[in-house]
Amino acid sequence: MSLLLLITGAVSLPLAVFGRTINLETRQSGSAVTVSLDQKYQTIDGFGCSEAFQRAVQMSKLSESQQQYTLDLLFSQTNGAGLSILRNGIGSSPDMSSDHMVSIQPKSPGGPSSTPNYVWDGSDNKQLWVSQEAVKRGVRTIYANAWSAPGYMKTNGNDANGGSLCGVGGASCSSGDWRQAYADYLVQYIKYYLEANVTITHLGFVNEPDLTTNYASMRSSGSQAADFIKVLGPTLEKANLSSVSINCCDTEGWSSQASMLGQLGSVDNFISTITAHSYTSSPSSPMNTRHRVWQTEAADLNGQWQGAFYSSGGAGDGITWANNIYTAVVNANASGYLYWIGAQTGSTNSKLIRIDGDKVTPSKRLWAFGQWSRFVRPGAIRVGVQGAPSGVRTAAFQNVDSSVAVVFINSGGSAANVQVKVGGGSGFNSSTAAAYLTDNSHDVSDSTVSLSGGTASASVPGRGMVTLVLKQEEAT
Ligand SMILES: *[C@@H]1O[C@H](CO)[C@@H](O)[C@H](O)[C@H]1NC(C)=O
Ligand SMILES: *[C@@H]1O[C@H](CO)[C@@H](O)[C@H](O)[C@H]1NC(C)=O
Ligand SMILES: *[C@@H]1O[C@H](CO)[C@@H](O)[C@H](O)[C@H]1NC(C)=O
Ligand SMILES: *[C@@H]1O[C@H](CO)[C@@H](O)[C@H](O)[C@H]1NC(C)=O
Repeated sequence: MSLLLLITGAVSLPLAVFGRTINLETRQSGSAVTVSLDQKYQTIDGFGCSEAFQRAVQMSKLSESQQQYTLDLLFSQTNGAGLSILRNGIGSSPDMSSDHMVSIQPKSPGGPSSTPNYVWDGSDNKQLWVSQEAVKRGVRTIYANAWSAPGYMKTNGNDANGGSLCGVGGASCSSGDWRQAYADYLVQYIKYYLEANVTITHLGFVNEPDLTTNYASMRSSGSQAADFIKVLGPTLEKANLSSVSINCCDTEGWSSQASMLGQLGSVDNFISTITAHSYTSSPSSPMNTRHRVWQTEAADLNGQWQGAFYSSGGAGDGITWANNIYTAVVNANASGYLYWIGAQTGSTNSKLIRIDGDKVTPSKRLWAFGQWSRFVRPGAIRVGVQGAPSGVRTAAFQNVDSSVAVVFINSGGSAANVQVKVGGGSGFNSSTAAAYLTDNSHDVSDSTVSLSGGTASASVPGRGMVTLVLKQEEAT
């Protein structure tokens, strides 16, 4: 191989940096990695988190500077993880006690065809504020997701403890069919956000419909979901909101969602995105659908706070989440991947960032998300990549601006060197290269990369993650 040429190509690097980070012996065994722009897979919508169930309220209790710091950690594309999707909870509760998400119609208007009696407090448990701050930082994908309809619209008269929406198959109520009223309610929620200059792009009307629990929850089979979607779709159209994508159905696990797809067939044209969580089964293979698929909720819910990128390879480690995202995106064709909570109080790993009094502590899970989200931007297309060293997983993407992002996760204990060349497309020839590193001592930090003859050379530390961003100069 052309070792000398490579070194010659890298002389512009400061010698000290060069000497410290490039080891000739390992460089000789560096793997030739080829990105194939012509080998195209799914389009990426992004990566995200939620501040539902009053976690946004917790964030709002921080001092102003810590609020801004936290919002930057989550959404900034220069100082943070650059998350590009925010998932909000549409309230169904009659009150705000505990962590309840309050409904925009806490009391029944009387019946399904009574004039609605909506109430908007301009806060939505501080989720509107988080949304506006996310938008300021470049977030364009806001997923509003109801856990349940209000209790008076359901068979059990309660927004918690399961029950079904009155009017869907097998769910008849003496009060009547509430499907149209629920669709109107969701449309009204979108309009309140629009008035506050926040465009909700995706709408979900149920969360974990395969789980009955003592917080907001509503049961739904696939065919019951279809019974509602056939009302919701036309309702959005009539409100000139057909650009809002309908997501379904945020099941507890990947395989339960896969098994609902058949029953959603009759409303396939109204559905935009298939959504599933990772709790009862995580993404492993593609779902049988033409729609984009998002993994919309995953977390190490109960593990005690763990901030490291790698400690023991456990459920809270950053590298575990780097790999979870990889599996969803590369093996299971996911277009979106969301952690459960962005920032929250308490001592578990259920969030990416811990709030403790006025102290804000990001975990490496956040930076693992950042290694993807900062550089694999909405609209990017996943493309082929071959030749990663053993023990290193790699995925490649071409962004809308034509830049190429190549993600490397090294689960082994020692550094691996890679030499990356981009092929296919209309003769892409890298003319600038940047590298970003997260490991136990770096947080999406600038890392060394050299470029020679269109080939980028970089080192991926053991138990580390590196994202390369390659650009070619525009023809002048
Ligand atoms: C929404 O944007 C308009 C136009 O820029 C502005 O006049 C209005 O004050 C904004 N409303 C809110 C709630 O931010
Ligand atoms: C939807 O848009 C059409 C055409 O612009 C307009 O005539 C109609 O009034 C709008 N409807 C609503 C509910 O905003
Ligand atoms: C991956 O998802 C896309 C939609 O985003 C779909 O068109 C494609 O068929 C899926 N691929 C596989 C292998 O399932
Ligand atoms: C890519 O650009 C380099 C100079 O930056 C040049 O040496 C090389 O020949 C080019 N490769 C192709 C395939 O155009």
